Amino acid sequence: MVSKSRWKLLAMLALVLVVMVWYSISREDRYIELFYFPIPEKKEPCLQGEAESKASKLFGNYSRDQPIFLRLEDYFWVKTPSAYELPYGTKGSEDLLLRVLAITSSSIPKNIQSLRCRRCVVVGNGHRLRNSSLGDAINKYDVVIRLNNAPVAGYEGDVGSKTTMRLFYPESAHFDPKVENNPDTLLVLVAFKAMDFHWIETILSDKKRVRKGFWKQPPLIWDVNPKQIRILNPFFMEIAADKLLSLPMQQPRKIKQVMMGSQA
Ligand SMILES: *[C@@H]1O[C@H](CO)[C@@H](O)[C@H](O)[C@H]1NC(C)=O
Ligand SMILES: *[C@@H]1O[C@H](CO)[C@@H](O)[C@H](O)[C@H]1NC(C)=O
Repeated sequence: MVSKSRWKLLAMLALVLVVMVWYSISREDRYIELFYFPIPEKKEPCLQGEAESKASKLFGNYSRDQPIFLRLEDYFWVKTPSAYELPYGTKGSEDLLLRVLAITSSSIPKNIQSLRCRRCVVVGNGHRLRNSSLGDAINKYDVVIRLNNAPVAGYEGDVGSKTTMRLFYPESAHFDPKVENNPDTLLVLVAFKAMDFHWIETILSDKKRVRKGFWKQPPLIWDVNPKQIRILNPFFMEIAADKLLSLPMQQPRKIKQVMMGSQA
């Protein structure tokens, strides 16, 4: 059950990312139409700002100031205050996060950054992709996003071979990150708990591994270049949970304390 709800959250999150980074050509406000953008047959002109206006309708203009990946500079001098703990914010995990950000990166690759139109696709992990022959269509997108340990090797004809980003958390990481990814794939950690930052730190800095605190044993050795690792901004988890899935949001602790204090 834990795994299922995480998957749902992650999938919604991936859809949010699509809106954030892609210009769109759809018409309605309903999610399916909102998030489904067929590749046009002919090259159509890029509609500048359309994804942005759609995104701001959904989450307000605030989202424009939010980087997709967490950045060291936001945690180094000024500790960015966050109302929520993981997975919806960084409250209480700042020190661990700082150490992780110091050895990873937050940049968007130049070849994506420089595109005027960024067309993205999220490739799900469902069985219906089998024998779909969608591989070539998927590879045509500028940004191909995959989730968790979705297999690619051996299924290229159906799921494509390009992986621009792979969103994962420790328990969902493939034991060999080189097998299903391209050499330049960004491995985007979606942290659900402070232990997830601790896990990546011990892997990348070769510190003593932690084995407790996970619902499934994550890899203890993970052969990856730290510069390929990105940390997803938990703001997008908050948006996916709150605005798209309408999950009950955990109250910021401060409010809880004030309420308890006033009762006492
Ligand atoms: C977002 O900004 C645009 C202009 O930049 C403005 O027209 C719009 O009302 C703003 N929306 C919100 C929700 O603040
Ligand atoms: C996919 O195609 C192969 C070869 O035609 C067939 O053997 C297999 O059963 C198909 N699988 C599915 C899930 O349709």
